[in-house]
Amino acid sequence: MARRTLSFVCQNCGAVYGRWQGKCETCGEWNTIAEEGGTSDSGPGRAARKGRPFALEPLAGAAHEAPRLASGLAELDRVTGGGFVRGSVLLVGGDPGIGKSTLLIQAAAALAKAGHRVVYISGEEAVAQVRLRAERLGLSGAKVELAAETSVEDIVATLSEGKAPRLVVIDSIQTMWTGAVDSAPGTVTQVRGSAQTLIRFAKRSGAAVFLVGHVTKDGQIAGPRVVEHMVDAVLSFEGDGAHQFRILRAVKNRFGPTDEIGVFEMTGAGLREVTNPSELFLSERDLGSPGTAVFAGIEGTRPLLVEMQALVAPTSLGTPRRAVVGWDQNRLSMVLAVLEAHCAVRLGGHDVYLNVAGGLRIQEPAADLAAAAALVSSLANAPLPPDAVYFGEVSLSGAVRPVAQTAARLKEAAKLGFARAILPQGGSEASAEAGLHLEAVTSLASLVADIAARGRGARSAPSPRGAARGFDKTG
Ligand code: TYD
Ligand code: MG
Repeated sequence: MARRTLSFVCQNCGAVYGRWQGKCETCGEWNTIAEEGGTSDSGPGRAARKGRPFALEPLAGAAHEAPRLASGLAELDRVTGGGFVRGSVLLVGGDPGIGKSTLLIQAAAALAKAGHRVVYISGEEAVAQVRLRAERLGLSGAKVELAAETSVEDIVATLSEGKAPRLVVIDSIQTMWTGAVDSAPGTVTQVRGSAQTLIRFAKRSGAAVFLVGHVTKDGQIAGPRVVEHMVDAVLSFEGDGAHQFRILRAVKNRFGPTDEIGVFEMTGAGLREVTNPSELFLSERDLGSPGTAVFAGIEGTRPLLVEMQALVAPTSLGTPRRAVVGWDQNRLSMVLAVLEAHCAVRLGGHDVYLNVAGGLRIQEPAADLAAAAALVSSLANAPLPPDAVYFGEVSLSGAVRPVAQTAARLKEAAKLGFARAILPQGGSEASAEAGLHLEAVTSLASLVADIAARGRGARSAPSPRGAARGFDKTG
């Protein structure tokens, strides 16, 4: 007699085990393994089907540029690489309440207004709630077809009728369930099964399908990491509750770049596109206070100026604190180590806090120099020149390395009224025309010496307090 095999599936990463255990050995999470009934379409119980040969093709041949459907929201189109590709599936993740549903109803309405058939399926909200939101956004006039449904078989059957839709929004994939697998909705097996069915529908019908996915506290799209591998693009919608703006970032994109960001502002009337984000991020600067440096960064193809804020304060703890928001903890540790080892800056007795203003998350190593400048400025109590921007990568030897796209960074800084740039040697030839005063630095030690001298100058005393504030006399 055939025995139904149970499997135990990690709800975080999808690893399958033969028996229950407390910890998933694949992803290291505790208490994530749950019992699920196996799918019946595999395994030795089934007679092997004889394979059907298919034609193989050469690499060279007629290739069509993937036809795209621009949403009309320029920031969204920028992140997707110029619009939704027909038949593609996009997953958009983000914290609850960040604005995923708002973004997608706005995109859906824009496409519907352009005359495309657009269907919005909500598994979380009732039709009335979606309507209410659309009304608040002033989008009630758009011909978006709505439903509150969770069965993917029913959804696919409905969508297969009539004219094929161009865009389908599924909000959210965790609420969907398919009859093909017999586990509870929200489990990895269900989510994976539902996503598979929807992906098959997208490929067959040519509709672009947008899946909304929830995010766990550590930033991963909850449960279905597996889904990330199945879809064509993964977008992440970020921002923090205290700030109005939201960043849409491509984490994976089979049809476009993954380093572009889209910037939106959450207003009373929905999400508004922000076309000049630097202005937004620099709008609340604390001019003339020590510990802030403006970083001339690049996100994708777009230059972006942000303020890095540091606070270095004597500690009362045995182990000083190192806290960072918006930047990589490891890079902060590295910059601190270089400051200690090569620039005679002693930080062992100080707490260090670093924050990227406005809630932006920076990933570029080019921010090293700006972070170091902010840290030293705070330690020395020496404000940096308010009209200066900083960028450059710091190596472990204490050298400042050139970074890409110097010209674009300088151009943006000049556009926003900055007068000088502190940058690595070697990047400056190409960009003399920017109209900024360029100060090339070759080593972090020389920058530190400059800032420390400003601190001493400001207090107009040849102070032994410099040493007390953490600088060796050689520094
Ligand atoms: P929502 O799109 O429902 O978030 P998600 O689908 O990611 O969970 O957005 C909800 C939040 O956005 C809510 O806290 C209120 C805010 N919001 C506005 O500020 N203005 C608006 O016009 C709308 C529709 C929402
Ligand atoms: Mg929602």
